[in-house]
Amino acid sequence: MNVLQIQGGRQLRGEVDIAGSKNAALALMSAVLLVEGTTILHNVPNVSDTRIKAHLLETFGAKTYWREGSLFLDCSDVHVGELDEETVRLIRTSFYLLGPMLARVGRVELPAPGGCKIGQRPVDFHLKGLALLGATVELEGGRYIATTDGLKGAEIYLDFPSAGATQHLMSAAVLAEGVTVIQNAAVEPEVTTLAAFLNRMGARIEGAGTSTISIIGVERLEPCEFRVPSDRLQAGTFMLAAAATRGDVTVRGIMPDNQTALVNKLREAGVEVSEGPDWIRVEATRRLKGIRVKTMPYPGFPTDIQQPMAAVLCLAEGTSIVEETIYESRTGHVPELQRMGARIRVEGGRLTFINGVDRLRGANVEASDLRAGAALVVAGLAAEGETVIRNVHFIDRGYENLEASLQNLGASIERVEIGESDLSASREYDG
Ligand code: EPU
Repeated sequence: MNVLQIQGGRQLRGEVDIAGSKNAALALMSAVLLVEGTTILHNVPNVSDTRIKAHLLETFGAKTYWREGSLFLDCSDVHVGELDEETVRLIRTSFYLLGPMLARVGRVELPAPGGCKIGQRPVDFHLKGLALLGATVELEGGRYIATTDGLKGAEIYLDFPSAGATQHLMSAAVLAEGVTVIQNAAVEPEVTTLAAFLNRMGARIEGAGTSTISIIGVERLEPCEFRVPSDRLQAGTFMLAAAATRGDVTVRGIMPDNQTALVNKLREAGVEVSEGPDWIRVEATRRLKGIRVKTMPYPGFPTDIQQPMAAVLCLAEGTSIVEETIYESRTGHVPELQRMGARIRVEGGRLTFINGVDRLRGANVEASDLRAGAALVVAGLAAEGETVIRNVHFIDRGYENLEASLQNLGASIERVEIGESDLSASREYDG
């Protein structure tokens, strides 16, 4: 089994180029099903989630291959295929294949989706929206069976500005007859990216990036080339690793406007943050102050950065409160941070109280989901001594070459193969 082994306590220093956005790429990789021919996506992160998505597309008849960091997706011949349940359950966005398949083929079967275990993550907004667009979707034996005689434009109101539902329904509506309006749409940058991609293929989408999106249906789309923007969550993780280690790191190739919430909260905690057109520099010269953080839909503080932020605040002076409003149980990092000496506790699944400590101590810990894993990396980099992180496969879902990038910044972090018995022995010792 692979683990990440970190010798903590080294200040991170230097510059890091940020890879393409996992979540943007995953949304684009559903939408490619709408178009005959080969779409070329540049800057797709080669992480397990995108590899799984490519595999699912192949089951529907697409041909996919990577060449020098670009992903070629030939969807000339798309057909209903038997998706393997185990694979579908690995990622949440397998469900977003449903709408484009309905638009292209008129029928699709799909096992219920999975993803990180951070809350219930229902799909009711997706289902209601697809029904309004003229699809019939039934759940039989854990599989969604969806059919349509032709999607038609509709007015859709989302009960919550869900990024996934906005992306999914926007993709489904592009080839529908007539006009679709999505009200209370998500304004996440990944939604705007998807709209730009679809428009480049010939779609007519207006208002992406606002809470009302209009989609005027078109008859067909043409394949295109498109560059996936950088990953704001990965950039945020490096910024937090810099803050935790009292380092000085510049994240490059990013859009600073997408990081406003994090930048402001870091400044509030006493970190110096400067920015240019496509970079942000984070300098933490002294101990941070405890702050209050509340996650919100974009442009609010991102839920995906909540866990690494909590890791940073474990070392801040005084009390911090982190409130998670998007997911009901995104707290898998908490017991593991406790193992490292953090004074952190959760109340009711959503409120995390932190009393800052002077130092964290390395320990054997376990990632429970992708961003909990990122939080443990941040904590391990700042902690004294050795941290060993198990369940690295969660981290591999969203961070490409994480160790190499951190090593370039001066971190001591290695991926090592370790036997089960070594781990249980070290856990006991740590215990
Ligand atoms: N929701 C419903 N019903 C629905 C859809 C969503 O109740 O039909 C709820 C969810 O349970 C949640 C809230 O609405 O409470 C927001 O969920 P959203 O649909 O926006 O999330 P998502 O599309 O499933 C994406 C990202 C997540 C990120 C969220 C929020 C991808 C693949 N995933 O998920 O990313 O946390 O948006 O920004 O794009 C991650 O990268 O670690 C990750 C989990």
